[in-house]
Amino acid sequence: MLQKPIKMPLLIKNGRIYQNGVLTAKNIFIESGKIRKITDSEVQAKEVIDAKGKIVIPGIIDPHVHIREPGLTHKEDFQSGSRAAAKGGITTFLDMPNTMPPTTNAERLEEKRRLARKSVVNYGFHFGSTLDNLDEIKNAKNIASVKIYMDPTTGDLKIEDLGVIEDIFKTGRMIALHAEGDNIKKIIEIIKKTGKKAYFCHVSSEKELQFTQDHETKNNVLVEVTPQHLFLTSEDAEKLGSLAEMKPRLKARRDQEALWKGIREGTVDTIGTDHAPHLLEEKRKVSFPYGIPGLETMLPLMLNAVNEGRLELKTLVKLCCENPAKIFKIKSKGFIKEGYDADLTIVDMPLVKEVKNEELETKCKWSPFNGWKLKGWPVMTIVNGNIVFDGKEIKNIRAKEVEYGA
Ligand code: DOR
Ligand code: ZN
Ligand code: ZN
Repeated sequence: MLQKPIKMPLLIKNGRIYQNGVLTAKNIFIESGKIRKITDSEVQAKEVIDAKGKIVIPGIIDPHVHIREPGLTHKEDFQSGSRAAAKGGITTFLDMPNTMPPTTNAERLEEKRRLARKSVVNYGFHFGSTLDNLDEIKNAKNIASVKIYMDPTTGDLKIEDLGVIEDIFKTGRMIALHAEGDNIKKIIEIIKKTGKKAYFCHVSSEKELQFTQDHETKNNVLVEVTPQHLFLTSEDAEKLGSLAEMKPRLKARRDQEALWKGIREGTVDTIGTDHAPHLLEEKRKVSFPYGIPGLETMLPLMLNAVNEGRLELKTLVKLCCENPAKIFKIKSKGFIKEGYDADLTIVDMPLVKEVKNEELETKCKWSPFNGWKLKGWPVMTIVNGNIVFDGKEIKNIRAKEVEYGA
C-alpha cells in the first residue's frame, strides 16, 4: 500500500552536515518537504533524528538508471528500482529511454510518467532518439536530455547516421550519449561544428577520456564514469564471466587508473550507476544481455574509497550531488541549502558491512560486488522531507518528478 506523504516538521540534530566544501555541526529543520532552516539552535519539531556520529550530505542524484518499465518489468520496475535507490542513499534518478517500447514520443513519455508515480525517490527522464523523431525531440516536455545510442546495447535505438545526430544537436536540447571509442571523436567534431554541449555516459578508457579533453571543446563536454569501471577491470571479468559483461566493457587496469586520475584532476564530472538490471537466469544464457545493477552499491563503494583515502568527500559530493543537478539543471537539488528540497542522505563512515545478494532490493538480486566488505554506508535516506529509508526498512511513500530550470 502506498502511503500519502506525511509533511511533518522534522529536525536532524547532532550530525555534521556538508555545506560549501566543509563539514559543520548544524541542525537542519525541515518543513513541507523543504530545508527551512540550517541552524545552531534547536528548533521544536514533531520528529527528531539524532544524527550523532553521522554525516549528512545532499541526496545522491544518479543521472543514469535503467528502470525497465514499461515492457521489461520482470527485471525491474519503478517500485523495486526506486526502493533499491533509497537503500543506496539515492534520492533522485534519471531514467533511460531503452524500455519496451522505447521512450521516443510524447505519448510514451506520458505513459512512463504515469508508471513512475509509484517511485519512492524523485525521478526524471531521458528521452530517446531515432532516425526520424526530430519533432518529438523538439517538443518533449520536462526531460533531462535526449539520449543518443551510437553503439549496440540493450534495446534498438542505435543511430549511426552522423547527419541525423548533427540535426539532433541543432535542436539545442541537452544531449547525452552512449558513444564508445572513436564514436566519441566523431561527436567531438559535431560539437566543434555546432558549438553545442554533450554529456558522455560511462567513459571507460584512457583513450576515451583523452578524446573528451580536446582543448577546443572541453568546456562543452561533460564526462560521466560508472563505479564498475572504477572498481572492476577486465581481470575481474575473467572470474565473474557474464556477470561482469556490460557496455562499455570493463577495461585494463591502466584505463581504470586514468579514470581515477580524471576524478582527481576534475576532468570527470559525474558518477552514474548505469544501473542495468538483468535476471541471473538471463545473464547465465549463452547469449546473455549486457549490464549490471548498481543503485545499492555506488555510494558504499565511493564512501569506502573516501575511507581508504582514494577520494575526498568533497569530490564525492561534487560528482554525485552538485554536478548532476547543475548539468541537467535540476531545480532545488544537489546542495544542502535553505529553501532547497529536503533530499538528504545520512551516512555512517565507520560502518563496515558486506554487500550481500540476498539483501538487495533490485529485482535481479545479484551484484558483481557480492561479498565485498565496504566501510562507509548510507543509513538514512530522506526524500522530500520524508524518511524513506531508515537504515532498516523502506517506506512506500510516493516521490515526485524533478523540474528543470536555469
Ligand atoms: O551494459 C549496458 N546495459 N549498457 C547499456 O548501454 C545499456 C544497458 C542496458 O540497458 O541493459
Ligand atoms: Zn550506455
Ligand atoms: Zn546505460
